[in-house]
Amino acid sequence: MNMPDLIRRKRDGEALEPAEIELLIRDYTTGAIPDYQMAAFLMAVYFRGMTREETAALTRAMVASGEQMDWSAVPGVKVDKHSTGGVADTTTLVLAPLVAAAGVPVVKMAGRGLGHTGGTIDKLESIPGFRVQLSREEMVRQVKEIGLAITAQTGELAPADGKLYALRDVTATVESIPLIAGSVMSKKIAAGADAIVLDVKVGSGAFMPDLASARELAQVMVALGQEIGRRTVAVITNMDEPLGMMVGNALEVKEAIAVLRGGGPQELREICLTLGSQMLLLAGAAGSDGEARRRLEGLMDGGGALAKFRQFIGAQGGDPEVTDRPELLPAAREQITVTSPAGGYISAVQARLVGEAAMLLGAGRVTKESVIDPAAGIELKKRRGDYVNAGEPLAVFHVNDRTNLEAARDRFLSAYTLAPERPSNGQLVYEIIS
Ligand code: URA
Repeated sequence: MNMPDLIRRKRDGEALEPAEIELLIRDYTTGAIPDYQMAAFLMAVYFRGMTREETAALTRAMVASGEQMDWSAVPGVKVDKHSTGGVADTTTLVLAPLVAAAGVPVVKMAGRGLGHTGGTIDKLESIPGFRVQLSREEMVRQVKEIGLAITAQTGELAPADGKLYALRDVTATVESIPLIAGSVMSKKIAAGADAIVLDVKVGSGAFMPDLASARELAQVMVALGQEIGRRTVAVITNMDEPLGMMVGNALEVKEAIAVLRGGGPQELREICLTLGSQMLLLAGAAGSDGEARRRLEGLMDGGGALAKFRQFIGAQGGDPEVTDRPELLPAAREQITVTSPAGGYISAVQARLVGEAAMLLGAGRVTKESVIDPAAGIELKKRRGDYVNAGEPLAVFHVNDRTNLEAARDRFLSAYTLAPERPSNGQLVYEIIS
């Protein structure tokens, strides 16, 4: 394959043949194409985009780079859920046990943090002993036994996406509709669920900054899912400000436990109920949105969801005691309060900047090789719409390494806009596309 020519043609805005894209992905997966050429190609796609046909070829090629899960041994409609990435977005940790507790099998292949956004696998790894690599046989056995399993991308399933995802993270090529659609849908198709609920985030902390691009991404992904016979729904949700109040891996596990107990931030609970209802509806486990919601609320408030989370942690080798004693999760040596330099109503909290501040504290990766600190992160004390006095705490930083503390504080404070008037309420869910 003449890689410089392929890069040049994409750079100049040409549409490539499906066979060329298939070869490109195959050769990158085997190592025949080096990272520097793929990085240049990704940047060309970032600027030039891809046609629907190219995006479909990219997705198919990434699925074909590995195996596909076969769930025929597990009865019922298997559902999966995926978020395009956000800040303090702990929904998967809540939804997977919640929906499984409602009797719907949940199967999921999850990713690590990308850029300023968190990743389910990094969060789960903060639970002592938790195993994120399951073989296909282990996945099937576990879903049969307890109705739920989450695994990291292995060398077996969509390995091309695993490699590309890590490269895009460090080459500023994440925010591209065809690349996100191919990445998400190749994982979903390879993981083999019958029904897929996509949470497409939009706003300052999302990869899609405006509703029009989020809608386009949602439509491309729903079409890719339906083309290959998977029931697919996308929910477009607000990621202008962090969804929950915790940003960082162990901190987000703590917050998920609070929501599974029926508490936690109202906004996080609400998004979980919306997405969870769609999962139940797609699986045919509820006749209406209202019925689905009532069941899920009952499971959160009645302890069923938390009991399923305990069982899930135990099944994957983690210490289930963390659900009753969250202090068993990794904790940072220092807790440093960050106060507001001025008073006023909080009219905006730019989620991306909060995510970047948490990354600087060690909660995310700055380079491909960075090692995550599971205990590091930010505990928010105020939300958009709250009033804050000068000198009042906005957040508590959880810190083990002070190297980037001042940079993190500056980045964090720059996320806040204060105003004399209370802002109008923001919208949490924009649209559902099916
Ligand atoms: N989530 C993914 O799985 N892939 C992307 O490219 C972005 C978000």
